[in-house]
Amino acid sequence: MKLYNWFLLGLRAVVLTCAMAVAHASGTLYEQIGGEAKFRAIAQEFTNAILADDRINFTFADADVKKFTQLIFEQLCNLTGGPCKYTGRDMHEAHAKLAINNAQFNAIAEDLYIAFDRVHVPYRLQNKVMVMLAPMQRDIVKPGFVAPGTTPPPR
Ligand code: HEM
Repeated sequence: MKLYNWFLLGLRAVVLTCAMAVAHASGTLYEQIGGEAKFRAIAQEFTNAILADDRINFTFADADVKKFTQLIFEQLCNLTGGPCKYTGRDMHEAHAKLAINNAQFNAIAEDLYIAFDRVHVPYRLQNKVMVMLAPMQRDIVKPGFVAPGTTPPPR
């Protein structure tokens, strides 16, 4: 085979590989992350990380932890375009009695990053989920609530 033909063959292989990569990336975020098994593992590791986190685990003292893990699975699945219905309460209602502050909200975000790392979700995909969760802060953090021992932000 002539060198020119080898070159064309190589070029086709490169184009095909790129096309496959694009096709893969165009699935839902749910599919890109790895579907049901992966999201169940994320939800479980998230719960584990929260329960081991002394900054926030006390808020779960009276919670049904198994139910929470299931609802987090449904919520993350639904948000990322998966085939799930979220059957829990809205974020304002679920957190209204907990007097959650910004530091605690950031702590739970860190715990989700820990869960993502434990099940090997690529960082760029982790951040796509985080961007979807960030706007929930206004429903979860109690307005004007200042944690004991901290200084309110300047006005
Ligand atoms: C983006 C951040 C968060 C998301 C996506 C989230 C999501 C959820 C979901 C889906 C539920 C279940 C709702 C239901 O029971 O119907 C829930 C419940 C709960 N969340 Fe969050 N949450 C977040 C932040 C936080 C923070 C910062 C804390 C505490 C520091 C917290 C503490 C709790 C507790 C204790 C429950 C159980 C409430 C109960 O059983 O009555 N959450 N959350």
